[in-house]
Amino acid sequence: MIRFLVFSDLHYDHIPDGDTRVEALASRIERQRPDFVVSLGDLCRPTEQNRAILRGLRAAGAPVHVLVGNHDTEGGSLQETLGFLELERDYYSFTVEDVRFLMLNAGGSKPPCLPEGQLDWLRNEMSDASLRYVVCSHHSLANDFAQRGVANREAVRALLETRRTLLCLGGHDHGDDCRVLNGIPYFTVNASSYLWHGVRKMKDFPEETRRCYPVLADCLLLDGPLSAEVCIDGGRVTIRGMRGAWRASTPADIGLGETWNGVRISANISDFEWKA
Ligand SMILES: [Fe+2]
Ligand SMILES: [Fe+2]
Repeated sequence: MIRFLVFSDLHYDHIPDGDTRVEALASRIERQRPDFVVSLGDLCRPTEQNRAILRGLRAAGAPVHVLVGNHDTEGGSLQETLGFLELERDYYSFTVEDVRFLMLNAGGSKPPCLPEGQLDWLRNEMSDASLRYVVCSHHSLANDFAQRGVANREAVRALLETRRTLLCLGGHDHGDDCRVLNGIPYFTVNASSYLWHGVRKMKDFPEETRRCYPVLADCLLLDGPLSAEVCIDGGRVTIRGMRGAWRASTPADIGLGETWNGVRISANISDFEWKA
């Protein structure tokens, strides 16, 4: 059985309590002792000071596999971000037992799109019929709203449907969502930071804090970092999510409904069970 912890969208530089959240995630890793950790992107800017983030998470005792999110190149080039994340390339795979994890980056263009070269690589990487596959991409392979999802998601999904794809994990949409398309679950992992809305200017925090972290004016902060534990046992997937809370204003307070940016919004990560 494989057991890993997944989290997404910490946005360390955008929030006032990034260090506390990193510590909370690290102690969760220490407590849960997963085989490894997956970060689905939008972790932090690639600065010298921010090296402590991955160092802190890795010191918790499990390997951390990271994706490149669209905000991870803020203030740096892709090459600098790859160096910072200790990656040779923005897409790669790793195999644990009989499951291969495909780590993608569709965020090199606007709207996000999986480049042909990466699609060819994926086709090749998923050709071993004795393995099952988990596909991780920062941008959704299922979200049809505006330009949130990967533009060529139908072509990517058509490939995944011909392979032994067990699960797809995505971040970026800062929501708690899951949809099953043609027998493959696409699970959106809710953020470890906030829901960005831009509906109205928020004053949940003192002016000084808002000046240091201007993103706070456009979002609802979650009370702590969300993460989920994913267990894979043969063709069975069990995702154990967690309950979170809003730090101050809630979606209802500002008139948001059930969904935003094409996904269900909540302060939680839902549980999910699936048998291939
Ligand atoms: Fe994000
Ligand atoms: Fe993102």
